[in-house]
Amino acid sequence: MRGHIGLVTGASSGLGVECAKALAIGGADVVLAARRGERLQTLAGEMRKEYGVRVLPIAADITVEADLERIISHSVAQLGEIDILVNNAGIAPTGRAERISRQVWDDAIALNLTAPMFLSQKIAARLIERGKPGRIINITSVLGQGASAVYRLAPYTASKAGLANLTRQLAVEWAQYGINVNAISPGWIPTEATEGGIAKPGNREKMESLTPLGRLGLPEEIRGAVIFLASAAGSYVTGSVLAVDGGYTAW
Ligand SMILES: NC(=O)c1ccc[n+]([C@@H]2O[C@H](COP(=O)([O-])OP(=O)(O)OC[C@H]3O[C@@H](n4cnc5c(N)ncnc54)[C@H](OP(=O)(O)O)[C@@H]3O)[C@@H](O)[C@H]2O)c1
Repeated sequence: MRGHIGLVTGASSGLGVECAKALAIGGADVVLAARRGERLQTLAGEMRKEYGVRVLPIAADITVEADLERIISHSVAQLGEIDILVNNAGIAPTGRAERISRQVWDDAIALNLTAPMFLSQKIAARLIERGKPGRIINITSVLGQGASAVYRLAPYTASKAGLANLTRQLAVEWAQYGINVNAISPGWIPTEATEGGIAKPGNREKMESLTPLGRLGLPEEIRGAVIFLASAAGSYVTGSVLAVDGGYTAW
């Protein structure tokens, strides 16, 4: 991936940190985007030292249109054209479907589905204009394939299912321009988003029993899939949803 420039959203914690490191391990320069800028600064410093690539932290809210424009213009000015995009930022609000508010629903759709769509659109439009190929990786979820057996997660399961099928649609539309669009569908992995729920009595055991490998994932276990889909190794792969889930969706 040397000579390529990757953007990872939600790079201030959890799987986003691992996606960013995966691109850096592959040799790409990396733009880190999330709202908590100080965390991005710290990670950028660590990554520059460890991987010897250029890293640009940008504090931004990707549900805000002006922030999407700013991420792109700043990246282009500082590093060059973004040609690898990892749409990772996401939220999973819990609540009973019969009571969930319109605001909670709208916020989840805005971050999990609308932001990846328009960030992908903006970056792909620039690549198409310049005749450059690219890669887009959407982080969906096993819960984009089926309902949760553990939590009440209507906005999450609906938005992640939407993101999985958006992946296929964009892959088909942009194949002619050499832009491969794929998704990674993680299973249960402890992060800031999931730790609290995993710690509740009985939940870890239930999640483990639903997973053929019999354990939760480690955040760094996402790296291999990111490297595969972002690099030359994945050149003939587009429109796929790659499960990194310990077999959760296999039965
Ligand atoms: N962990 C799992 O078990 C699991 C399983 C399946 C799928 N996933 C998916 O993996 C992705 C990462 O999840 P995670 O577990 O790593 O959760 P996490 O640690 O909570 O990370 C979520 C990231 O999204 C960022 N974010 C939230 N709102 C944002 C906004 N408006 N603008 C920009 N960035 C925003 C957060 O940063 P700031 O707060 O700094 O903005 C944070 O970096 C999500 O899409 C999630 O659905 C996770």
